[in-house]
Amino acid sequence: MRIAMIGTGYVGLVSGACFAEFGLEVVGVDKDESKIRMLEEGRIPIYEPGLDALVDKHKAAGRLSFTTDLAEAIDGADAIFIGVGTPSRRGDGHADLTYVFAAAEEIAAKLKHDTLVVTKSTVPVGTGRRLQKIFKTQRPDLEIDVASNPEFLREGSAIEDFLRPDRVVCGVESDRAREILAQCYRPLNLIETPILFTALETAELIKYATNAFLATKITFINELADLCERVGADVQQVAKGMGLDGRIGRKFLHAGPGYGGSCFPKDTLALLRTGEQYNTHLRIVETVVNVNEGRKRRMVRKITDACGGSVAGKTIAILGVTFKPNTDDMRESPSLVIVPALQAEGAVIRAYDPEGMREAAKLLPDVGWCQDSYHALEGADAAVILTEWNEFRGLDLDRARSLMRQPLIVDLRNIFDPAQVAKAGFAYTSVGRPV
Ligand code: UGA
Repeated sequence: MRIAMIGTGYVGLVSGACFAEFGLEVVGVDKDESKIRMLEEGRIPIYEPGLDALVDKHKAAGRLSFTTDLAEAIDGADAIFIGVGTPSRRGDGHADLTYVFAAAEEIAAKLKHDTLVVTKSTVPVGTGRRLQKIFKTQRPDLEIDVASNPEFLREGSAIEDFLRPDRVVCGVESDRAREILAQCYRPLNLIETPILFTALETAELIKYATNAFLATKITFINELADLCERVGADVQQVAKGMGLDGRIGRKFLHAGPGYGGSCFPKDTLALLRTGEQYNTHLRIVETVVNVNEGRKRRMVRKITDACGGSVAGKTIAILGVTFKPNTDDMRESPSLVIVPALQAEGAVIRAYDPEGMREAAKLLPDVGWCQDSYHALEGADAAVILTEWNEFRGLDLDRARSLMRQPLIVDLRNIFDPAQVAKAGFAYTSVGRPV
C-alpha cells in the first residue's frame, strides 16, 4: 500500500509517520519548501515526544519520504489523505476550509488514476460531499472515492493515540473505500481496536461531537470546582467519585484554568456555526464556549485575591505558559489571557516554560523569560502554576521559598498536595479544593 499525506503539519506528520509504522509506504507533501527541507534534513518542525525517532526510523527504512511535488506524491497512490490545517475563520468562527479545497483542486488537476481521497483534517459536516462534487465535476473521467477519517490525537501523546487508539472512525460510501481504509489500519486488528464504518456525514460529526463533549466535561468540572470552594468540598474527590461510575468515566474531569489548544476552542465554535447553519441551536455547546471564556478572567481574580486584592507592583512568577504540558503549542492557551490581564493590573511577570518560551515570547510582551523555575521564582511575590509540566511537580519547595519574596503558590492545575505545601511554609490556593 502506498499513500500520500497532504500537509506535514501536526496531523499530517504524525499520521504519516504512524502509517509508516503500520507498514505503509508514505509520501508527505507540503507546499512549504522550508518545512520539507527541514524534514529531509531530519529536523522536525513541531515538538511531539517520539516523533523525531519515528520519522528517522521510517525515512531510513525508505517507507517515509517528503516532497513539495503533489503530482509526484499522488501518482499511483492507493489513498490520498488530506491533513492540512482548518483554522477558525476570522470573524465568524466557521472552520476555514481554504487549504482543504486548495488541496482538492490540485488533486483533481493532477490525478491520473482512480483512487480514494480521505479527509484526516477536522472538517465540518458536508465537506466530504462538497469534495465529491469537486471531483465529479472536474474529473468525470476518473472514479474518485471520498472518505472521512477524523483523527483523535492529543498533542503530547499523539503517537500513542494513533498506534493504540480507542477506536478508528471511517465515513465511507463504497466497498472499495472501506477495503482500502481497513487495509491502512490492519495492524490494529491485532489489538482488537474497534473500527467504525459510517456514512460520511456521521464520521464528520463524530469528530466534533467528541471534542465538544470532552470540552463540556472539562467545563462542567470547572464550574463544580467553584462550588466546591464555596462549600468546602474537594473537586478532585468529587471527580473521582463521579468518574468511577462507568457511565461517566474518570478522564477529562481535571479542573483547571479552562481548556485551550488548537482544537477544543476552534471545534466547539465551528460546531455551533454548523448548528446555526442547519437551524439547530446547540445551547449546551454555546454555554460551554461562554463559560470557558469567562473562566480565564475568573482565574485572574483568583490570583489577585490570593495576592491580597491587588497585584499592582508585585512580581508574579508564572510556571508554564503552554495550553498543556509536553507541547510547545501556545494556541488559545489560558496564559494568553491571564498574563496580559495581570500586567494590566500592574504586575511584573517573570515566566518559565520547558518548551513554550520561544513561541510565547512572540505573543506575550514585557515578560521576563527565565532559564528555569528557580530563576523565575527569584524575588517573586507569588508563584502561579499555569501548566502541569512534570518538572514542576518535583519542585524543591524549600529552595523555592528561600528564593521568593513572599511564600505564596497559586496552583491552577492542582499539582501539589496542600498539606505538603503548607508544611513547607507556603500560603496555597488551588482549584476547587479546601484551603
Ligand atoms: C484534543 C483531543 O483530546 C483529541 O482527541 C483531538 O484529536 C484533538 O483535540 C484534536 O481535535 O485534534 P488536544 O487539544 O491536544 O487534543 O489536548 P487535550 O489533551 O484534549 O487538552 C485540551 C485542553 O483541555 C487543554 O487546555 C487541557 O489543559 C484541558 N483539559 C484537559 C483540562 O483542563 N482538564 C482535563 O481534564 C483535560
